[in-house]
Amino acid sequence: MNLNVLVLPGDGIGTEVTREAVRVLRVVAEKWRHQLTIREGLLGGVAIHKTGVPLPADTEKLSAEADAVLMGAVGLPEFDDAPTDKRPETGLLGLRKAMAVFANLRPVRSYKALLNSSPLKNELVDGVDMIIVRELTGGLYYGTPRGISGEGMDERGVNTMAYTRREIDRVARMAFELARKRRKKLTSVDKSNVLDTSQLWRRVVVEVAKDFPGVALDHLLVDNCAMQLVLNPKRFDVVLTENMFGDILSDEGAVLAGSIGMLPSASIGAKKPSGAWTGLYEPVHGSAPDIAGQNKANPFGAIGSVAAMLEYSFGLTEEAAAVNRAMEQVLNCGKVTADLRPTGTPATTEETGEAVCQAI
Ligand code: IPM
Ligand code: MN
Repeated sequence: MNLNVLVLPGDGIGTEVTREAVRVLRVVAEKWRHQLTIREGLLGGVAIHKTGVPLPADTEKLSAEADAVLMGAVGLPEFDDAPTDKRPETGLLGLRKAMAVFANLRPVRSYKALLNSSPLKNELVDGVDMIIVRELTGGLYYGTPRGISGEGMDERGVNTMAYTRREIDRVARMAFELARKRRKKLTSVDKSNVLDTSQLWRRVVVEVAKDFPGVALDHLLVDNCAMQLVLNPKRFDVVLTENMFGDILSDEGAVLAGSIGMLPSASIGAKKPSGAWTGLYEPVHGSAPDIAGQNKANPFGAIGSVAAMLEYSFGLTEEAAAVNRAMEQVLNCGKVTADLRPTGTPATTEETGEAVCQAI
C-alpha cells in the first residue's frame, strides 16, 4: 500500500516525539512492505518564525495532498501575548477546519504497568477503557462574533458557542458507530441546564440514538462528568461532547492513563472516495516548552497516534495492533520516560522510541 504522510512536528517537544513516531512508522512500512512517502511541513510557532503565519498556504496544500497528517504539538511562550492571528494555536485550529476533521477521538485507557503512575488508587483506575469523542470544528473555538472591543471599564471580550444540527448530528453518528463496536454505551456530556447550544445538542443526540437501538445512551452535565471521571471512571465507554468540554475533560482523562504524554488522538473527517477517513493525528499533550530539547518527553502519545493512523486512515488493523502491542511490551519492561514516575532511571524519548521499534 502507498502511505503518503505529511508530518508537522510543530513546536517544543513536538519535534522530538514526532521523530520517534516517524521512526515507528518506517519500521512498520518496512516490515509489512508498504511504500511510505513522508513530507514535512511548517505549523505553529516555527511557521510564524519562518513565514510570518502559523498556517502557511503551503502546509494547507500539502495536507490536502497527503493521505494522512501527523502533527506534533504547537505553542511557544513567546507568543502568549500575540494577537489571535499570530498565535501558534491558530495554525492548528485553521488546519483542523481546513481538513474538516470534525470528530476528535481520544482514547483513555489504563495500562497494568502504569497503575502506579496515576495518583488515583489502583483499583479505581485498573480496567479503565473509554474513548472521548470531542467535536472539533465548532463551538466556542470557532463561533462568531468574537474579539475584544471597547475601552476602559467597558472593554469587552466576546466568544460565541454555536452549533448547528448538522454539526451535532455527524459527530454523534460517529460516536454511536464507535460505541456499537465497543461496549455499546454512550454518555453524552453537555450543560443543558444552562446553555441553549446544549439543549439542542441533547435533543439531536436523542434523535440520532433512535438509529442505534443497540447502544445505551445516557446524559451527564459536564460538571458532574468531571467528577465522575475520577470517582468512577470505569462507568464510561464512549463519551461524546462538544469542543471545549472535550478539551478540558480529555486532560482530566490523562490522570487515569498515568500521564498526558500517553494519550494519542485521531481527528477524523469525511470518508474519501477510496473509503479511507480524512485524518489528522495528534497527541493530546502540548508543546511542553519547559522540557523541550531535553530528550525527556514521552513519545507514546505520538506513537499511539501513528497506530490510530494505520487503523483509521489506512485500514491496516494488523499493523496498528502490532504498534499497540509493542508499546505495551515496552511499558511492561519499565522503559518509560520521567513523566510516568519510573522506579529506576527514566528512559529518554529516543530510547523509548527505539524500544518500540525493536518490539515491532
Ligand atoms: C488540544 C490542545 C489544543 C486545543 C490547543 C493547542 C489549540 O489543547 O488539542 O487539546 O485546545 O484543541
Ligand atoms: Mn487540550
